[in-house]
Amino acid sequence: MRTIAVIVGSASRDSINRRLANALMLLGQDRFVFVDVRIDDFPLFNIDLSKEPPAPVLRMKAEIAGVDGVIFTTPEHNRSIPALLKNAIDWGSRPAGTSCWIGKPTAMLGASPGQTGTAAAQQHLRNILSPQQMIMMGQPELYLHWKAGLVDEAGQVTDETVKKRLELLLERFAVWVERVGVRSA
Ligand SMILES: Cc1cc2nc3c(=O)[nH]c(=O)nc-3n(C[C@H](O)[C@H](O)[C@H](O)COP(=O)(O)O)c2cc1C
Repeated sequence: MRTIAVIVGSASRDSINRRLANALMLLGQDRFVFVDVRIDDFPLFNIDLSKEPPAPVLRMKAEIAGVDGVIFTTPEHNRSIPALLKNAIDWGSRPAGTSCWIGKPTAMLGASPGQTGTAAAQQHLRNILSPQQMIMMGQPELYLHWKAGLVDEAGQVTDETVKKRLELLLERFAVWVERVGVRSA
């Protein structure tokens, strides 16, 4: 089974994107081995620190090095991605020549209580990831308008349409990883 990192762009205890990511991992557990990659314990990126990166950053880079693909679950903050997520991407990209992102197949999704369901944030995320040379899946796009009860207490998606869209994303990403990914064995 392929191993996939999941990165959630929120540190909130009540994060809807954390709940979405957990539901996605539950739906995809027969298809992938997931690595839940923590990014909420990094200092703010500073080039001066990047020559000897802090331990949490080294942990993330090692985890990303070991996976066959990366799925980002992003909130939208002021029509972009949260600073938390940008910080993690910046840390992963440095020192120059040691980026952990290069060549990794990637997909994204996100949820917001707003009608546009993180569309603006995901557009920015695509712009950011493209020069990292991540191999980005274009479809399906998942801009989820979050409603109370969408994921129940057991972590199950209650809306059949949303569940099917998440399953489609997992199915397409499995094909994407095989088609474009670097084979680990
Ligand atoms: C600083 C900030 C900016 C926000 N900007 C947007 C926005 O541009 N678009 C949007 O749909 N929601 C916006 N929201 C609302 C978030 O979508 C909402 O807080 C959501 O729960 C964040 O995801 P999370 O629960 O996974 O952290 C913003 C929230 C915060 C705190």
